[in-house]
Amino acid sequence: MARYRGTVISVRSAEETFDYLADFANAAEWDPGTADAERLDDGPVGLGSGFRLGVRVGSRVVPLDYRIVTYDRPRRVVLLGESDTIRSEDTVTVTPATDGGSILTYDADLRLKGRYALANPVLRLGFDRIGDRGVAGLRSVLGGPPVPTERPQAGQVVARTVDEVLEASVVGSFSSIGPAVRSRTAGWTPPPPLTGKTVLVTGATSGLGLATASGVARLGAQVVLTARGHDRAERAVDAVRTAAPTADVSYLLADMGEFDQVRGLAEEFLAGHDRLDVLVHNAGALTRDRRESGSGSELTVASQVAGPFLLTGLLLPALEVAAPSRVIQVSSGGMYTQRFDLASLEMSPEVYDGTVAYARAKRAQLVLLHEWVRRMEGTGVSFHAMHPGWAATPGIRDSLPGFARVMGPLLRTADQGADTAVWLASSPAGVETTGGFWLDRRPRWEHKVPWTRLSEEDFSDAGAALWAWCAARTGWSGPTRQA
Ligand SMILES: NC(=O)c1ccc[n+]([C@@H]2O[C@H](COP(=O)([O-])OP(=O)(O)OC[C@H]3O[C@@H](n4cnc5c(N)ncnc54)[C@H](OP(=O)(O)O)[C@@H]3O)[C@@H](O)[C@H]2O)c1
Repeated sequence: MARYRGTVISVRSAEETFDYLADFANAAEWDPGTADAERLDDGPVGLGSGFRLGVRVGSRVVPLDYRIVTYDRPRRVVLLGESDTIRSEDTVTVTPATDGGSILTYDADLRLKGRYALANPVLRLGFDRIGDRGVAGLRSVLGGPPVPTERPQAGQVVARTVDEVLEASVVGSFSSIGPAVRSRTAGWTPPPPLTGKTVLVTGATSGLGLATASGVARLGAQVVLTARGHDRAERAVDAVRTAAPTADVSYLLADMGEFDQVRGLAEEFLAGHDRLDVLVHNAGALTRDRRESGSGSELTVASQVAGPFLLTGLLLPALEVAAPSRVIQVSSGGMYTQRFDLASLEMSPEVYDGTVAYARAKRAQLVLLHEWVRRMEGTGVSFHAMHPGWAATPGIRDSLPGFARVMGPLLRTADQGADTAVWLASSPAGVETTGGFWLDRRPRWEHKVPWTRLSEEDFSDAGAALWAWCAARTGWSGPTRQA
């Protein structure tokens, strides 16, 4: 069996995206692996509609008949293609985006049958590449202007245009201008309630963590915050109760770079809670001087990569009980400056530079995010990373005082920086999609310059290697990769 999963951000509405994908007669337009495609019946596309695709296999074109076996417009369509030798199941899930566009996840499952089944491992090798080409084709078709047949509302077009103009200028997007403008555009609505949900936020004593804990508490969540000391934890609990007077809020202690403490934190959480709906990995700092955790690992990487890896792993039972549940990593736009390289992730004392170490750790969080997605497929636990832009917090004032002074009024408030984490914790997009990197409630590209990008194959290998590295450091190895 070979499996491919890809996500595409579409500028078309959920309905338009769904209709385009469900009509497999369009497949040759976006999938380079399809030579031609035709409809086998008449009438509106729906459950049972049939299509014949000419599928490229080497230099030959082989016919494969598909039928729609699930049709839930505009959310989910499943197409099943079957011949004597091959079975292909393609699932498309579409989620509306706040700006009138949509996010689609394409899940393709291909297997050879009968005596050809022996070749399934070989099929798997090339399938990622075929999937990548199809997803790239979808991006070029759906990333274009909306189809003219259904006119989007003017506000949605404006929202999209404004968002893209802001995103093109880093200052406009990362500063307080980003949320100030985007929050006035169509579709930016208050996040849904979190009543009955349990949310754990690490590093919630100040800045974005405290704003996230307060934000989810206001939405009705039971909040468990984490801190490194009782005094700051108690002050944070009081602050959350001030923001949300009826909130159920408590705290647990752990330094995220000390793996024994992380284990203790997980044990205590699991002793008191049987479910975890949202885990927000927020704890983090840019450390000017190189420090090591008790395990001998450099502190930035230990506390922001390996520690969160271990905590997620140990809390998986509670996340799976609560599924659909979500894990949200607070990353940083700083990671745009770094290419992932495991060998230089943990910086030695001779070359240590706090800003670089921090940016590398944040890039590593993205690599690990995709590895979690690969390994947790089908469990109902979604994984996201977001970056807060530039927000006025004690953290940014301590670590980058010059930058904080110059940017001054252009820095976001902590609430603005935390908004996307709170929104991902509560909105349907947080469970209906996985693997996104978000800013201001929209998925963003993970690269702003080409040299930070790895090939698909190298990226996949990097994920496996980073996982193995974290497993070796923390002693937790978790689920293996799915086929
Ligand atoms: N502010 C920004 O503009 C910005 C931009 C990009 C990314 N971020 C990210 O946002 C997150 C929050 O940052 P912030 O700006 O809100 O900073 P902050 O006000 O300094 O808050 C950082 C929080 O993380 C905790 N923390 C730091 N190291 C820890 C460790 N080893 N173990 C456990 N907790 C630890 C701190 O706890 P203590 O109270 O014990 O110190 C504090 O609660 C970080 O991941 C940061 O990288 C912030």
